[in-house]
Amino acid sequence: MARTGMSPALRKGPANRPKRSLDETRAIWLEAFRRVRAETERRASHLSAEDQIVQSMADASPAKWHRAHVTWFFEQFLLVPHDAAYRVFDERFPFLFNSYYVAAGPRHARPQRGLITRPNGAEVAAYRAHVDAAVERLMARVPAEEADSVFTIVEIGLHHEQQHQELLLTDILHAFAQNPTDPVYDPKWQPPRMTLGPRGYVDVPAGVHAIGHDGDGFCFDNEMPPHDELIPRVRIARHLVTNADWLEFISAGGYTTPSLWLSDGWTTVQNESWQAPGYWRQKDGAWHAVTLGGLRPVDPAAPVQHVSYYEADAFARFAGKHLPSEMEWETAARHDIIADAFGIAWQWTRSAYLPYPGYRAVEGALGEYNGKFMVSQMVLRGSSLATPEGHERVSYRNFFYPPTRWQFSGLRLAEFI
Ligand SMILES: [Fe+2]
Repeated sequence: MARTGMSPALRKGPANRPKRSLDETRAIWLEAFRRVRAETERRASHLSAEDQIVQSMADASPAKWHRAHVTWFFEQFLLVPHDAAYRVFDERFPFLFNSYYVAAGPRHARPQRGLITRPNGAEVAAYRAHVDAAVERLMARVPAEEADSVFTIVEIGLHHEQQHQELLLTDILHAFAQNPTDPVYDPKWQPPRMTLGPRGYVDVPAGVHAIGHDGDGFCFDNEMPPHDELIPRVRIARHLVTNADWLEFISAGGYTTPSLWLSDGWTTVQNESWQAPGYWRQKDGAWHAVTLGGLRPVDPAAPVQHVSYYEADAFARFAGKHLPSEMEWETAARHDIIADAFGIAWQWTRSAYLPYPGYRAVEGALGEYNGKFMVSQMVLRGSSLATPEGHERVSYRNFFYPPTRWQFSGLRLAEFI
């Protein structure tokens, strides 16, 4: 979710759904719009004004910026083209809150988002309210002949905002991890429970399988087109790799054994002095980890989080196993043979983030959502504890650069037969 992207190719908007009256369609999208917009504010409500300004690294964005950027998205891609009466809230905001859409105009440098103390939080709240009111007005009044295109963009905007809801949490967690006083995002936060049951490996059905989005619901363009892939004889771990597994890796010298690592990974281990997953700290002689609930003892039974692709790859080598390909993962998930595919940790695969056969990004600014990032990144599948409810799906392709570990990223293993 990098960052976010999608395109209106994103097909299968409301027009392709079961036939509803226009009034029913308006009501459905009004409810969805209010629900998703409110969830962003709920997540931000745990943060002070100071929390919402900070940018702890170039890859992370301030919470205030996320709240404004997702609002700009509706303004830029929905209101400006589809509401002739709409007036931009502030002519300076598009420059500040455009992320990476070159076709949408020039933009502020990403690493300097944390320097934007003005507009302040109240002004961003007013921006959100202004755009919310305009979107609701548009949805209530759009004539039938324009309804499909309007509600398709509303749908894209909501999925985009949900991606930023996850980033809002991962980004503030990274900021809090830089603070020696161990700030707590939510004192009541509890990690999701892992599915119990036998560990071990299960056979992925070998042969030709359909991969990619084939349903009626929403998808991003990178999940298209659906196509056939040949799945080899492979077994996949029923469960995610745990902290106990990772403690074995550490104590066996995993972080000090160059033969376990890709060359770029070993260089990163050296440069970053990695000795454990992201956010792990030694305290009173025991490993602790920075979580949304603050600094807590590492639970050996919980899935490992905040590991990079390089670490996932090294661990698989250490274990004498492999990472699954994204196609093997999707086939296993479609056959419902793996536990905790969703809702705990994104799972690194050994697949490079590449276009599916025949993929083309759509024309225009929204075509920049996914396609232009299809180089040098690796695919993660599933979803995480920070993924908003209802946002995950079996064909979803998340992608990050191999050293990345501020996301809720873990792994499951595979073995070839
Ligand atoms: Fe975005």
